[in-house]
Amino acid sequence: MLSKITSFALNGIEGIPVEVETDINKGMVAYDLVGLPDAAVKESKERVRSAIKNSALRFPVNKITVNLAPADVKKEGSQYDLPLAISILKASDQLSAECDFVFLGELALDGALRPVTGILPVLISARDAGFKKFVIPEANANEASYIAGIEVYALSSLSEVIAFLTGEKQFAPVKARSFSVASASHSYNSDMSLVKGQKAAKRALEIAVAGGHNILLYGPPGTGKTMLARCIPTIMPDLTFEEALEVTKIHSVAGELTEEGIVTLRPFRTPHHTASAVSLCGGGNSKIRPGEVSKAHKGVLFLDELPEYARHALECLRQPLEDRVITVTRAGGAVTFPADFILCASMNPCPCGNFGSATRQCSCTPAQIHKYRSKVSGPLLDRIDLHVEVDGVNYDDFISEEREETSAEVKERVERARAVQRERLEGEGMDVNANMGERQLKKYCALSPECEKILKNAFETLHLSARARSRIIKVSRTIADLDFSENIRPEHILEAVSYRSGDLK
Ligand SMILES: Nc1ncnc2c1ncn2[C@@H]1O[C@H](COP(=O)(O)OP(=O)(O)O)[C@@H](O)[C@H]1O
Ligand SMILES: [Mg+2]
Repeated sequence: MLSKITSFALNGIEGIPVEVETDINKGMVAYDLVGLPDAAVKESKERVRSAIKNSALRFPVNKITVNLAPADVKKEGSQYDLPLAISILKASDQLSAECDFVFLGELALDGALRPVTGILPVLISARDAGFKKFVIPEANANEASYIAGIEVYALSSLSEVIAFLTGEKQFAPVKARSFSVASASHSYNSDMSLVKGQKAAKRALEIAVAGGHNILLYGPPGTGKTMLARCIPTIMPDLTFEEALEVTKIHSVAGELTEEGIVTLRPFRTPHHTASAVSLCGGGNSKIRPGEVSKAHKGVLFLDELPEYARHALECLRQPLEDRVITVTRAGGAVTFPADFILCASMNPCPCGNFGSATRQCSCTPAQIHKYRSKVSGPLLDRIDLHVEVDGVNYDDFISEEREETSAEVKERVERARAVQRERLEGEGMDVNANMGERQLKKYCALSPECEKILKNAFETLHLSARARSRIIKVSRTIADLDFSENIRPEHILEAVSYRSGDLK
């Protein structure tokens, strides 16, 4: 007999319907699984066999053929265990109930249902494609509860699913919840007011966040670079509901959601400097997972001590920095994940950290300094809009009575500048200056002859690239927006240029 059960596959963060078809025939005992399954899906054969037997049901001894359709979509992960089991039970006449649900879940050998990754993106895609009823593992209930307009049953074992389908036992659907992103404020351990002095660096951070620009902090060790970077999420606007869902989708696929099942704070990712290209950008052998660049989506990717990272891993950042998405290619297709983040990098100016310091002596040879800096390539530095020197703090700054501005105060200005950008860029498919293309640059960033002259001068003396020129204009647009200035004025261009003229070149 033939049976068909619906499940879903994930491609990046999009769900695709998959039919699990099972045909049971008389003939030589066999159990075949076809339809582009990966290793984890092939293993499900054995899990399903044990789970069925241990749920006091019969595993058919016939010729069983299971097909996962469409055959051209790669099937990864363990979520097909449950649909496979249901489909085998139906095909072997052990279950006659109507099964018009979408089934997702991994089975333990004893028949218990285990959570799977990617429930949130699957349910959203499925709902948008018109599917209404779902059976999922109990442990995924929290994540599922945030999606309105669907009926989700979160159950704990295969026997429970059978009892539910036959009507032997009643279960209530998961109760829909909403979440509030406003509650995200004040949830960070850092605050701008805790950083003494460093006025210039704080100003640069404000510009970076206001316009979504990348920033590099360089200077001697112990001057507060890491401390400053940790303040970035505290001055970013709260996530909107849509953004929170998008970020959650990625973290769901990555299998990194907490019990709560939703991400309400902007991500602040700090991958260790031993991170590989795959862990930074995404990939993997059997199942494609999003990398740090995607997990930092709508938040911050902080690379502390930039030259310590493997050069190859850093070079892979170029594409997402330019395109705001990352495409991971492998045999059988490409997967695209969002990767729209602010890159914050920090580095010492030389191995000993004192090069350029007004007070301390550098003990490095020019060759050592050259080697250290050449670990970070020019093209990567070119994509970082603001290069900021963070020098030592004066002792007077610690004992000064002057009140340091809090993150909440800075955040207010950032939000106002972002509102200006949103209004201007409405309908362009972007909401911050950093994401403007050449067309928007032309349309919204007209330069007066005087501004053009300053830029030309900088271009020639600093040997800037065309990319650096565009990026300087975008930064000056943000500085003008923080200033509520309709036009980019000379002082805005000058400040933007100053963030490019550091001695790092
Ligand atoms: N500007 C500052 N204001 C207050 N404390 C500071 C400042 N700079 C550094 N510190 C103190 O020094 C510690 C080390 O700073 P850190 O940010 O790790 O330096 P870096 O990353 O530049 O090496 C911080 O945890 C903090 O206690
Ligand atoms: Mg540090």
